[in-house]
Amino acid sequence: MVEVKNLNLYLKKKFILKDMSFAVENGRICGFVGGNGSGKTMLMKCISGLIPATEGEIIIDGLRIGRDVDFPEELGLMIETPEFVDYMSGYQNLKALAAYRNRIGKERIREVLTEVGLNPKMKRSVKKYSLGMRQRLGIAQAIMEEPKLLILDEPFNSLDDKGVMWLREWLLRYKAQGKSVLLSSHNKEDIRVLCDMVIHLKEGRIEDITQV
Ligand SMILES: Nc1ncnc2c1ncn2[C@@H]1O[C@H](COP(=O)(O)OP(=O)(O)OP(=O)(O)O)[C@@H](O)[C@H]1O
Ligand SMILES: [Mg+2]
Repeated sequence: MVEVKNLNLYLKKKFILKDMSFAVENGRICGFVGGNGSGKTMLMKCISGLIPATEGEIIIDGLRIGRDVDFPEELGLMIETPEFVDYMSGYQNLKALAAYRNRIGKERIREVLTEVGLNPKMKRSVKKYSLGMRQRLGIAQAIMEEPKLLILDEPFNSLDDKGVMWLREWLLRYKAQGKSVLLSSHNKEDIRVLCDMVIHLKEGRIEDITQV
């Protein structure tokens, strides 16, 4: 379960997130919606432990982020446009990233690349990837270790129709395993099809929470 309690974020004396509180139970997909600059990405960065909250608490499965642990355990993360080492292939990038935790091997990397629609044998460097291919590699990176929690910032960006359908179905199957997803999207249909709960953000505040 993800709990956000009275979260405030100030950067350079300017408030970015103001008094946010909500909880997302396991096996749920929670959507963040709101205009450009409303705080979706910053909220996801706080929950992931990438930016420390100024005030308030983020508790994931009973552990306080930034206190009990630096980062959520078992987190798959994709924030904005994923960065990769440009001169290496998709496979080489995932292999280097997988070496951090050393939980998965070559077989799983090949499998996840195929799953997101990339050819694991492709030698092309990431520099030569299209936007959508880069996005698919970003998704592969987030899901490769089969984490319990996924935080995906606009994961549908740049995906073609086939990619969108695949990712929607994949997320619903993932949720059916009792896992949780926090995602942002500007696409109402993605939100409608996927989310059990929608948090509407406006100017760094929660405007409304809809439970579906
Ligand atoms: N590094 C930063 N330092 C200071 N302020 C920032 C920083 N990054 C973002 N902000 C500010 O935080 C606020 C929220 O930005 P955020 O990126 O979370 O919006 P968003 O809802 O994700 O928008 P979009 O739909 O464009 O992705 C904005 O006012 C933005 O200017
Ligand atoms: Mg954003």
